[in-house]
Amino acid sequence: MEIGPGAGNTLDAIRGTREFTGGATSETWGYSQDYLGPLLRFRRGRTANISVMNRLDEPITAHWHGMHVPGYLDGGPQLAFGPGETWAPELPVDHPAATLFYHSHVHGRTGPQVYRGLAGMIVIDDPEIDDPLPHDYGVNDFPLIVQDRRFDRSGRMTYSLGMMDRMHGFQGDQILVNGVIRPKLTVPAGLVRLRILNASNARAYDFRFTDGRQFHQVASDGGLLARPLAMASLQLDGAERAEIVVEFSDRSPVSLVSRDIGMNGVMNGGMMGDRGGSMMMGDRGMMGDRGMMGMDGNSGAPLEIMSFDVGEAAPAGPTRLPTSLPSDAPALGDPVRRRNFTLNMHTGGMMRGGMMGGGGQTMGINGAPYVMDRIDETVRAGETELWRINADMMMRHTFHVHGTSFRVVSQNGRPVDSAQIGWKDVVRVQGPTEILLRFDKLASEETPFMYHCHILEHEDAGMMGQFTVT
Ligand code: C2O
Ligand code: CU
Ligand code: CU
Repeated sequence: MEIGPGAGNTLDAIRGTREFTGGATSETWGYSQDYLGPLLRFRRGRTANISVMNRLDEPITAHWHGMHVPGYLDGGPQLAFGPGETWAPELPVDHPAATLFYHSHVHGRTGPQVYRGLAGMIVIDDPEIDDPLPHDYGVNDFPLIVQDRRFDRSGRMTYSLGMMDRMHGFQGDQILVNGVIRPKLTVPAGLVRLRILNASNARAYDFRFTDGRQFHQVASDGGLLARPLAMASLQLDGAERAEIVVEFSDRSPVSLVSRDIGMNGVMNGGMMGDRGGSMMMGDRGMMGDRGMMGMDGNSGAPLEIMSFDVGEAAPAGPTRLPTSLPSDAPALGDPVRRRNFTLNMHTGGMMRGGMMGGGGQTMGINGAPYVMDRIDETVRAGETELWRINADMMMRHTFHVHGTSFRVVSQNGRPVDSAQIGWKDVVRVQGPTEILLRFDKLASEETPFMYHCHILEHEDAGMMGQFTVT
C-alpha cells in the first residue's frame, strides 16, 4: 500500500515513473508522489491550508471532490493554474466525517490527467464524534483507491481513445489498488474498515469477496450511514465512495473481486441497434488484440481486485459493529424548485469526424456542450431543490454535483430508500433519477460549481454544466 498520511501542506504536481507490470517503466504523474497523491486527512472545524505547485508542463487544478467549500476554493476548471504556478487555497473544513476524493479538473483534460495519476483520497475526521468503527489508520482502517488501466505488450501504461472509449468511457483490463496491480494486504483478525474510492475514469465495479462473505457498508460518499447495512456485493460507479467493515476473525485468506460489468447494460441499449456491426468493424481499436473484451460483461471471469491475508488480532479496536452510527446528514425538507437535466451523447447534429473517424464527439447536457463562459443555472443558497436527471440514450452515466451532497429520491425510475444510500455526491444514471439537494456554499460567475457525468471521457467531451449559488 503506497499512500501514507501527511505530506506536509504542499502538493507538488510532478512527473514520475513507475513499474506497474512486465518490468516496463511507465511515465506517470502525481501530487508529491510518482503516481497518485498522499492521503489528505482534514479535521472538521479546522482550516486546511494547502499549497499546490504545478511542476508539469500543462495547466492543472486540484478539485476537492465532495467537500463543501465555496466555488473559489473548489478547484474546478476556472481555477486551472499553469506550469510554475502555485495555488494556495485555505479550505474551511465544514463536512461530516467522510471519505472524499481529490483530482485535477481541467476542462477537456480531466480524463488523461487523472489517468496519469493526478488523484488521491481525502479523509475527514470529526473530533466531535466518537467513531465507533475501526479507525486505526494502516492497522484496521485502510484506503483502497481502485482504478483500471491498460498496458501495452511491454507493460507500459497507455491511454488513447478509440471510438468505443469515447462512447463508453475508457476502461482498462488491469485493476490497480493504490497504484499496484492486485496487491496483497495483511489485515488483523477481527473487524477491518476499508475506505473504497472508485477513482477509475469510467469503470463501474460490483465488489464481492471470493467466499461470498457478508460485510457491512457503513458510509457512502458524504459520510456515515444511519446504520450498518449488511450486503454481499457492492456496486460503485466512478468517483463513488463506500466505507465497508469486514470481519476477518475466521483468519481465512480471501480475495476481493468484481463482476466484470464492463460495458454490459450499455450494449443492449438502443445505441448498438443494427448499426452496431458496421460501427465495430470500422473501429480498429475495438477489433485489435483486445478483441471483443467487455462486450458481454457477464460471461467473463470476475476481475481480481486484491487479496487479503489475515495476521494477528489488532491490539485494540472495536470487536463488534454498533447498531446505529453517528450519521450527520441534514434533513432537507420539501423542494421549492425543480430542474431537469438530460445527458446528451451528442449535441448540435453531426459529430465532428463522424462515427467512423472515432473522434471529436461533442456531448452535452440539456442540448449544449460545456462552455466555460456560460452559466447554465442560477441557484439560491438555502433552498431545497429537486433535480431530475435523464439520458437521451440507453447508456450508463453518472451525475455529480459540486458544492454540496444530496439525497437520492429515485434511481433508474425506481424509488430508493435514501437512508440506505446515504448522503451522496455522485449517482448512477441508467434511467430517470431524482435527487434532493440544497446549497449552503456560494459560487460566483467567475468560479461557479459544476455538475457533470463522472465518466471522465464524457465530461471531457462536454457532458458538463455549471451554476452559481447566490
Ligand atoms: Cu470528481 Cu467535478 O468532479
Ligand atoms: Cu467534484
Ligand atoms: Cu456519461
